[in-house]
Amino acid sequence: MPLSTEMRLIDPSRLPAHIGIIMDGNGRWARRKGQLRTQGHLEGLKVAKKIVKAAADLGIGYLTLYVFSTENWKRAAEEVGFIMGLVKQHLKAELAFYRENRIRIRHAGDPGGLPPDIARDIQEACEDTRTFEGLQVILALNYGGRDEILRAVRRLLSHGEVPALTEDLIRQHLDNPDIPDPDLIIRTAGEHRISNFLLWEGAYAEYYISDTLWPDWTEADLAAAIAAYQQRERRFGGIS
Ligand code: IPE
Ligand code: IPE
Ligand code: MG
Repeated sequence: MPLSTEMRLIDPSRLPAHIGIIMDGNGRWARRKGQLRTQGHLEGLKVAKKIVKAAADLGIGYLTLYVFSTENWKRAAEEVGFIMGLVKQHLKAELAFYRENRIRIRHAGDPGGLPPDIARDIQEACEDTRTFEGLQVILALNYGGRDEILRAVRRLLSHGEVPALTEDLIRQHLDNPDIPDPDLIIRTAGEHRISNFLLWEGAYAEYYISDTLWPDWTEADLAAAIAAYQQRERRFGGIS
């Protein structure tokens, strides 16, 4: 891939280890084109694959993609069904892509609330790619930050005798306790809100809003977000 101007702005020695993306704007993209919302999701999926590849090529460790929230069930059944169908189809069709690029697939969210076949397909994709040591792509599907914390506390309580609660103990019961907190959380399509994404893990993430709708996103947008992140001063409550 030829290095874009934006790519050259990135310092490869200071990459964010973990990037989260709220991939928003599929519906608006479709409406502007006079197409159905589902067409926006179809385009959005193509862009997701492109950005996954770019993140892998850059050497990013973890990429969490917000695919479907615990609140997205409020949408019309046709739209929800279409998105679930896309996920299913993608996991089947793209296993070779993940294998070739040594990309490991993971899941964040409640598998219990998913259609059983989708939950099984995700579990299989996670199993099939478990040993890959390249980029880890975490699919946040039926994911809500509050729900994740609630399920963590429930898991904790299910042990019977509960030891003294600590932050670390709660963290250990989250969906993917081994994955480092996101350094950079990107939201596309201009909305300035978190919409229940990585509430616990994102406590000290750097946030980056892109006005570009997700289906219009390119590798150059990812590079620009990383370059902006590298300009930030992270203090974690301390004094620089
Ligand atoms: C993001 O795009 C995809 C999902 C939330 C599943 P939207 O479908 O939310 O697009 P807008 O926000 O309506 O434009
Ligand atoms: C957030 O986008 C969820 C995903 C991108 C999967 P939404 O479109 O659901 O968020 P709101 O409704 O604008 O807050
Ligand atoms: Mg939206």
